[in-house]
Amino acid sequence: MPLDAARNELDLAAWWMPFTANRQFKDAPRILASASGMFYETEGGRKVMDAAAGLWCVNAGHARAEIADAVHRQLMQLDYAPALQMGHAGGFELAARLARLAPAGLDRVFFTNSGSESVDTALKIAFAYHRARGQGQRTKLIGRERGYHGVGFGGISVGGLVNNRRMFPTLPAVDHLRHTHLPQNAFSRGLPEHGADLADEVDRLAGLHGGETIAAVIVEPVAGSTGVLPPPKGYLERLRAACDRHGALLIFDEVITGFGRVGAPFAAQRFGVTPDIMTTAKGVSNGVVPMGAVFVKREVHDAFMQGPPEAIEFFHGYTYSGHPVACAAALAALDIYEGAGLLTRALSLEAAWEAAIHGLRDAPHVTDIRNFGLMGAIDLAPREGKIGARGYAALVAALEKGALVRATGDTLAFSPPLIVSEAQIGELFGIVGEVLRGID
Ligand SMILES: Cc1ncc(COP(=O)(O)O)c(C=O)c1O
Repeated sequence: MPLDAARNELDLAAWWMPFTANRQFKDAPRILASASGMFYETEGGRKVMDAAAGLWCVNAGHARAEIADAVHRQLMQLDYAPALQMGHAGGFELAARLARLAPAGLDRVFFTNSGSESVDTALKIAFAYHRARGQGQRTKLIGRERGYHGVGFGGISVGGLVNNRRMFPTLPAVDHLRHTHLPQNAFSRGLPEHGADLADEVDRLAGLHGGETIAAVIVEPVAGSTGVLPPPKGYLERLRAACDRHGALLIFDEVITGFGRVGAPFAAQRFGVTPDIMTTAKGVSNGVVPMGAVFVKREVHDAFMQGPPEAIEFFHGYTYSGHPVACAAALAALDIYEGAGLLTRALSLEAAWEAAIHGLRDAPHVTDIRNFGLMGAIDLAPREGKIGARGYAALVAALEKGALVRATGDTLAFSPPLIVSEAQIGELFGIVGEVLRGID
């Protein structure tokens, strides 16, 4: 049964939808019509709690008037401005403000329009940085199994999700660390105990390829899209040390973890581990206008600032880098985040969040539960011979019961807007419990 049968007269054919089973979707479409605060409303008038912050991005909740007003004002004042050899005040203001929020030292900001663009930008910065310092032999990248870094060719190359890679050519000089999802860590609350030593895989790969050939190591501090994998205790510290040993840059992909998701402005701050480059997007603008930002350590940036001052230092950028409307949205989003304490609020909700999600440990089909900050995931046992079918059934059933969750394969992922209340957390996992008891 379609969620909103009334909309079946819509012509659904032309939109080739991303990361979607198009034929299945179009047989039973799920159409969102409006959103406010913690909730969506469907075309049929059904109110649905947004347990995914859109797609890990609407951190301050939906329909924030302050952002809408700022966007409207900006459109009427300066709707577009090129950022190539020109500038505008909003871009400089936003970059300076982001630099103040960032982990110490990462105070140079390159704007993009998405997480994928942020990742490819970061990888290019890493290569060009080494070259600028006379280390052009550093051409290898290291990603991690189960990593998700968007869908650009750089991102899928360092990424570690097989379905995103198997159909496409990838960059030649890329290797991967093992993922950290160990069976002995099942049902960990917060950071898992086992697996910090997996960071030493950098040494193994350095031994294989030559440490002096490695440009960068890129990981999500908490892997998100693969199903919320918090790092084992001590893992990120060891990764930092290993990168330092081999002169490789450490890139944290904070497209999901940035802007308060794990109880600090950035996961780097929550963990006390500072990367050399940090990629962000999504929450930077509360998801309402596409935007991304790459944070770069001062020394890395400064390595580019050589040669004649009239020479372009980095041959890279986008028509919409630092788009004035995106900058206005991001500045208004930052006002909300800071004004309402949202960048650290996840910390105060973490215990309630953890207790609620782990309360489903004995629910049917559950094989693992993980949580950190306001991120969480529940793994379900797959149906015999039908991987992903149970996860999809849970997604549909949850929507019917009033919650929009993410399902990737047979993993359900949760990341509500950071304005969520404790009562809503209870309500959400109440719905999920009912869903799990109701599906086969
Ligand atoms: C860690 C990470 N990097 C990159 C991306 C890609 O972002 P986008 O879809 O905006 O290109 C995502 C998207 O979920 C992500 O989670």
